[in-house]
Amino acid sequence: MNQAWWQDAVIYQCYIRSFKDGNGDGIGDFRGLIDKIDHFVDLGVDAVWVSPHYKSPMDDNGYDVSDYYQVSEDYGTLDDVREFIDTAHGHGIKVIFDLILNHTSDEHPWFQAAKDPTHPDHAKYHDYYIWQPPKYDAEGNRMKPTRWLSWFGGGVWDYNEPTDEYYLHIFSKKMPDLNWRNENMKTDLKAITKWLIDLGVDGFRIDASNHLEKNWDFPDDYPGYHHFSSLPKHHEYLEEWGRELFQPNGVMAMGEAGGASKEEAEKYVGYDHNEFDMLIHFGHCWQDCDWDNQITTGKWAKGRLNVKAVKESFFHFDKMLRGIGQNLIYWHNHDQPRILSHYGNDTEYRVKSAKMLLYTLYFMPGTAIVYQGEEIGMTNVDYQRLDDFRDVEVFTEYENFMSRGATHDMAMQALRDRARDNARSPFQWNDGPQAGFTTATPWMNVVGNYRTINLAAQQDDPDSIYRHYKRVFQLRKQWQVAGGTLAFIDLADDDSYMYTNDTAQGTILVVANFRNKAIDVRLALDLDGFEMVLSNCGDKLAPTLTLAPYDAMVYVKTKEQDA
Ligand code: GLC
Ligand code: CA
Repeated sequence: MNQAWWQDAVIYQCYIRSFKDGNGDGIGDFRGLIDKIDHFVDLGVDAVWVSPHYKSPMDDNGYDVSDYYQVSEDYGTLDDVREFIDTAHGHGIKVIFDLILNHTSDEHPWFQAAKDPTHPDHAKYHDYYIWQPPKYDAEGNRMKPTRWLSWFGGGVWDYNEPTDEYYLHIFSKKMPDLNWRNENMKTDLKAITKWLIDLGVDGFRIDASNHLEKNWDFPDDYPGYHHFSSLPKHHEYLEEWGRELFQPNGVMAMGEAGGASKEEAEKYVGYDHNEFDMLIHFGHCWQDCDWDNQITTGKWAKGRLNVKAVKESFFHFDKMLRGIGQNLIYWHNHDQPRILSHYGNDTEYRVKSAKMLLYTLYFMPGTAIVYQGEEIGMTNVDYQRLDDFRDVEVFTEYENFMSRGATHDMAMQALRDRARDNARSPFQWNDGPQAGFTTATPWMNVVGNYRTINLAAQQDDPDSIYRHYKRVFQLRKQWQVAGGTLAFIDLADDDSYMYTNDTAQGTILVVANFRNKAIDVRLALDLDGFEMVLSNCGDKLAPTLTLAPYDAMVYVKTKEQDA
């Protein structure tokens, strides 16, 4: 089988708004991406996934699209987009766009027509969205059709007076869900997808892809997530996109879909299925929640990290997809806190634990995604005021915490630990004003530690986090890491992170301590012939050994070359 470009790729997820401001208005943009193309080249990534760049009122930083055919004024012009694609291609770098199919902005012309009975196109567009009549209680008070909860904390229904109906939004109320049972809507979305393909992109990340179908019986369950997640019919829709758009045009597709079973995963990414090429799964992402917390509930409560569960999730997807389809590995995206603050230690062991996280993730098989700022060890934000935050989710949740009895300080701490904004602060280029991100006031504050944590400070230091990332990305190619076979050592252990990856080139051995304490480990395998290639603690391989906090080492054993 011919290897597709994405099968051994490292993909850089670029949060454009915070990457680099090219025109001095405080917001990252395509000009900034073009100016900084050397960063991608120097780091050695194969592709750049750009977060949504479409025209948008920016209620959810561009995931709320008001016109797919235009670029947000914040980010530039269509010519800038074309220039970026050409520049990237000129450097051998592929371009991946975020494709938002589940919803539009409420300011999209389709919704403007849909909600307004006097609009000339009302009849055509009304059913592009999902509407339900109100319910009434015994006293005749108007009630929402169901109690379903949105992903951003409130209910999923909002009332539209002119039609006396509620519309469904599983994210913010400014993001009405599209009705995938409407053929005209799909035809229009297909034209949009094709138009983006013709711009010259090499792939898509398909947003919220397992939510396209809803349960149209609208049962009144709480919180009701299962009525708009992973319903069987969404596979039909994705398959249609794969068959008609992605495959014939040779564009890579990776879809966001948590919790897929083996059958489902095979439908999504099976080599002989049409939906996607790769699946973005989340099993490893929130393995440190305190589920008993009643105030800052769910993901918002920080508890003890379950290292075993992190390993098990990676192993589960690796095993499940082996021989069936391509796996993906990554630590986090723009929806989770910074990995270094989340699973590592961003104070005493900042550099050491960053390297531990680097070695443990990137020698596992599968295509890799690195998130902007991870390569220099950026941390969570240090914001002291609620209005330092920007994410729409933060403000509803803050109210929720307070109504459940949180103090302001408690709520602020939960935000600094867990909010999506943690991953969205401006990239720290250097120790100059605004970390070199902009010459203006940035749309979101830079984190104060930019004076020590920045790219310029790390470029020439061979021991820096950045230089280790570069090295690891080179080694991934050299050792054909992506195509290997993963086996954990002591998977059940909740402190260590140890595995081998058997590749066409040899065997890679990673030995690491995920904890902030010394641990003893045993390596029940033949250690003969293993040579150290990377370490944050020196060379100390032995059948039994004590690992200091966050110790991590990478060894390789070359295959005997056939004569
Ligand atoms: C995905 C995106 C997230 C966005 C949501 C709605 O989960 O990653 O950032 O808010 O979809 O588009
Ligand atoms: Ca700008």
